[in-house]
Amino acid sequence: MSIWTPSSWREKPILQQPTYTNQDELNKVLSELKNYPPLVFAGEARSLKSQLANVSEGKAFLLQGGDCAESFSEFDGTNIRDTFKAILQMAVVLTYAGGLPVVKVGRLGGQFAKPRSGNTETKNDVTLDSYRGDIINGVDFTAESRTPDPQRMIRAYNQSAATLNLLRAFATGGLADLHQVHKWNLDFAHKSEISQKFEDLAEEISKSLKFMEACGITSKTYRTLRETDFYTSHEALLLPYEEAFTRKDSLTGDWYDTSAHMLWIGDRTRQLDGAHVEFLKGVHNPIGLKAGPTMSPEDLVNLATTLNPTNEAGRLNIIVRMGAGKVGEGLPALIKAVEKEGLNVVWSCDPMHGNTITSNGYKTRPVDAILTEMKEFFQVHKAEGTFAGGVHLEMTGKNVTECIGGSFTVTEGDLSSRYHTHCDPRLNADQSLELAFLIADSLKDAQK
Ligand code: PEP
Ligand code: CO
Repeated sequence: MSIWTPSSWREKPILQQPTYTNQDELNKVLSELKNYPPLVFAGEARSLKSQLANVSEGKAFLLQGGDCAESFSEFDGTNIRDTFKAILQMAVVLTYAGGLPVVKVGRLGGQFAKPRSGNTETKNDVTLDSYRGDIINGVDFTAESRTPDPQRMIRAYNQSAATLNLLRAFATGGLADLHQVHKWNLDFAHKSEISQKFEDLAEEISKSLKFMEACGITSKTYRTLRETDFYTSHEALLLPYEEAFTRKDSLTGDWYDTSAHMLWIGDRTRQLDGAHVEFLKGVHNPIGLKAGPTMSPEDLVNLATTLNPTNEAGRLNIIVRMGAGKVGEGLPALIKAVEKEGLNVVWSCDPMHGNTITSNGYKTRPVDAILTEMKEFFQVHKAEGTFAGGVHLEMTGKNVTECIGGSFTVTEGDLSSRYHTHCDPRLNADQSLELAFLIADSLKDAQK
């Protein structure tokens, strides 16, 4: 049997990687990154794992969300704050109306590398490398911008560090205090039906907090009322970068990828004998595995036992992304296979990546399809007697018009007005909140 090392993935076939032309420069950057301080501490990854173990037992719900791709140009504090607030808003709906604690994980602080459907892109007879995310090359369609540049990894690291710094400050510095619940409601020009629904819920929470205060339970005395745990995650796609942040934990002697608390394997790079599975099987972080319509029950069992050979609870999150109308076909067999083998997993639903369409030249997603996939996910789990444990979203706190529909309707004609994503279309704050209320109802129903 071959021995795992942080670089053993280099011996395996690999997909979705850039070709760097200047190897000396690449090696220089990687050796620099190897000495940079880790972004997260192994103990934090272990805390997340134990919270995810609760999810696998049906005692908590996983909420993972953020940008499809972070970018250098959209890097500013208000974006991070608004996404953080939108996640808190959703979490409070799920906790209060759904009755379960929520594990919060951002697609933030390192979500820069993107798998693409082709290696190149052609426009007006000009063919260039595809855009692979700001950590690799630039989105502009010029030869210079599309050439992979190793220095971008350093910039991505610095941006991730600053993002994480702000997220940690928000999580423990007062913004996440439950007494601020009204302030999380992102006030766009309009007040939609859904934001009113949130206001009503916030009012009820404020009343409960007043009652608790009268009983001596305040945010001064209870950390959980004034602080929250917030974790980061991204797709572990650009393996030279991930390798550079893979460090041996001084407490346990185990390897951790310290670029984020949780890493996942994309649907395009989940080959059993491929480099991405090889790399992630050796790090001790909690990990995610995307499962699209082509995932067979046998593949899933083989991948799950390879990635989690000790069947540790909280280690493996299966992120199902079938597309609306396809969950009933694909998911039951996957659940049955996992149950038959007695594998411990967290099941979550990514209702985004199977529902992308093109309209007026824009990549978009109908909110109806997103809500439908989510409902189907809950229905299948109910029928199988398993726990629908989480959701994985591309979302933002900004009032963008990237997904169509929702209670405050974004029409196809609106797409051009505030379409800011560098990659896939995201739910805006209202649309995310609408989804949170639907999930809360489904969670209540599942507990009946
Ligand atoms: C993503 O999560 O951005 C993504 C590319 O998803 P998938 O691997 O499921 O296609
Ligand atoms: Co995406």
